[in-house]
Amino acid sequence: MPASAPSAVSLSRYLIEEQRAGRISADLRQLIAVVARACTSISIAVSKGALGGVLGDAGTGNVQGEAQKKLDVLSNDILLEANAWGGHLAACASEEMDHSQPIPDAYPRGGFLLLFDPLDGSSNIDVNVSVGTIFSVLRCPDGVATPGDEHFLQPGREQVAAGYCIYGPSTMLVLTTGNGTHAFTLDREQGAFVLTQRDMRIPEETKEFAINMSNQRHWEAPMQAYVTDLLAGREGPRGKDFNMRWIASMVADVHRILTRGGIFIYPWDRKDPGKAGKLRLMYEANPMGLLVEQAGGAASTGREDILSLRPTQLHQRVPVFLGSKKEVEAAVGYHRAHDTAAA
Ligand code: AHG
Ligand code: MN
Ligand code: MN
Repeated sequence: MPASAPSAVSLSRYLIEEQRAGRISADLRQLIAVVARACTSISIAVSKGALGGVLGDAGTGNVQGEAQKKLDVLSNDILLEANAWGGHLAACASEEMDHSQPIPDAYPRGGFLLLFDPLDGSSNIDVNVSVGTIFSVLRCPDGVATPGDEHFLQPGREQVAAGYCIYGPSTMLVLTTGNGTHAFTLDREQGAFVLTQRDMRIPEETKEFAINMSNQRHWEAPMQAYVTDLLAGREGPRGKDFNMRWIASMVADVHRILTRGGIFIYPWDRKDPGKAGKLRLMYEANPMGLLVEQAGGAASTGREDILSLRPTQLHQRVPVFLGSKKEVEAAVGYHRAHDTAAA
């Protein structure tokens, strides 16, 4: 390396420089460093695969009635344990826990609330396809000594940090603290994340969409119309051919969109009309929404901005349209046209 080449920027250095610039507090820096450390441990467990004895079902279910994988449970425990004693958190909430958990009395409580999807895309674990961890950080409301679920119910715009770690061919942490979206790659020999892409930008326009097409017959009318026009390609009203990708790990699909653009959609469907969608607002849609917005993209339910929603339940589900700004606006346009015609 030539003597004049800039040295690699580690996550620690990035965070210290953000703190020095007055953009994050020491507590938030420490919190993110601890989450990154926990993700490194999860990455090690995931990469052992069958040799680590971590594949397969745990034999338990979560509050949403979904079967838990051993790695869902293990990842949840790693995140809880790592974050218990640092003094920066007041409480944690997770996809894998019915209710939020205040930091145990044995430790000091700090000013932040942490939400996570400890292992996203768990149906992909056993087939050796990318999975990830998603997290969201909120402020604990002033004067609350022992936070409960209700204190987490803040709009996504209130997030002070959000990110995910993707366990793929390489392990990457993608982070925002409200000042751009940045990607760090895990250097396994050093055990440190290194900044590999500052200021990710999602192209405004795209020719790629991500959706589980097997649900098509269950979608509502504006979704049917929108996807029909995408599939019509160059000969249709959109005037261009679209490609499709669906990994079925939100982390991996969103990572592709942050890298090269696209739209990711998990709409409401009639399969289970009682559910507003499949994905969860607080620890999937909100953190991904902030990361995407900070990279110049958009995140919507098809009718409202995701980050403006007022949550009513910790495990609330929501329809998700996120990615390239103009494409999200196009999808929202189909919903608006349908709703106006129906009114
Ligand atoms: P999780 O593994 O945390 O429950 O999340 C799975 C989610 C998301 O990652 C993915 O986009 C979606 O479920 C896939 O759903 P389908 O299996 O219906 O395609
Ligand atoms: Mn998930
Ligand atoms: Mn999960």
